[in-house]
Amino acid sequence: MRVLVTGATGQLGPYVIDALACAGWNVVAWSGHRRVRLQPGIDSIPVPLEDAQAVSRAWQEAEPEAVVHAAAVARIDACYADPRHAHQVNVTGTETLCDLADRSNVPVVYISTDLVFDGSRGRYTEQDEPRPVSVYGQTKLRAEQIVLRSPRNVVLRMSLLFGPGRCGVASFLDRVLRRWRQGEPMRFFEDEWRSPLALSDAAEAIRLTLSGDLRGLYHVGGPERLSRWEMGVRFAQHMGYPEQLLQRARRAEFSAAEPRPADVSLCSDRFREAVADWQPHRFPGPWLTEEGWRRGSTA
Ligand SMILES: NC(=O)c1ccc[n+]([C@@H]2O[C@H](COP(=O)([O-])OP(=O)(O)OC[C@H]3O[C@@H](n4cnc5c(N)ncnc54)[C@H](OP(=O)(O)O)[C@@H]3O)[C@@H](O)[C@H]2O)c1
Repeated sequence: MRVLVTGATGQLGPYVIDALACAGWNVVAWSGHRRVRLQPGIDSIPVPLEDAQAVSRAWQEAEPEAVVHAAAVARIDACYADPRHAHQVNVTGTETLCDLADRSNVPVVYISTDLVFDGSRGRYTEQDEPRPVSVYGQTKLRAEQIVLRSPRNVVLRMSLLFGPGRCGVASFLDRVLRRWRQGEPMRFFEDEWRSPLALSDAAEAIRLTLSGDLRGLYHVGGPERLSRWEMGVRFAQHMGYPEQLLQRARRAEFSAAEPRPADVSLCSDRFREAVADWQPHRFPGPWLTEEGWRRGSTA
């Protein structure tokens, strides 16, 4: 089977490509603008989603039988700074791709986010009403609605993803380790909760979704609800750094252009029931030492 993966050069994309290629899928990898050798025989092809003609041409060449759509302007601050561009890529780009897929009867697995919720309650299920408080969340929700127009498509709303960055993209925790190695403390919010999900477990969830018979909307989070502070403490313990390198912070101490949702933890029961084989790791995932983290990272 031939699968198209968009966003191949981001944090999630390289993990998805590994999981699918290992399972024998024939992978076509699209990026926004970067050309990266992802694996022997798999190079990213730059296809800017805001350019409908370029997308259409690249689609004819790819001839996919399934799509994992992970490309997005995924930085909250970038979406706020340029909402028009965020809309062009995240909403219009998704619509272009879905139209092409629909005409070819090809299913799309769309990667959405916990940030479609306002964070006032937490432990959200698929029945809860989304109410995004950021431009990023708004564009992702609009894209979900477009994707779900076709009954063969799937939306996987994922929690905060963590793991070593690949393709030269440093993840948040890569940056934390860099600071700690230099003896510099980092602040962690004690009043912000997520259900952190390892990038490798997210990729496995996508592989299982493609192999199974899922349709519609699913929440895909990690097995625990943790505050950023709890994540920081556990990460320091596993990586062998002293607690003095962590400082407690509260959201109200920082001024931000858009509100930071307090608790966007997800309830993933529906997905776990549909995909019995999926066993996501507890934070910090399969990378239990700094050496293991380093080996998993190319950032
Ligand atoms: N990271 C998280 O914690 C998290 C949590 C929940 C959901 N998600 C969702 O998961 C997906 C992947 O996130 P990520 O963290 O891997 O994102 P990321 O690291 O920011 O990577 C974004 C990817 O999208 C591509 N891209 C950016 N602008 C594009 C454009 N105009 N046209 C085509 N491709 C473009 C980038 O290509 P270049 O490298 O060439 O720029 C890159 O491959 C996103 O849809 C995001 O909303 C992420």
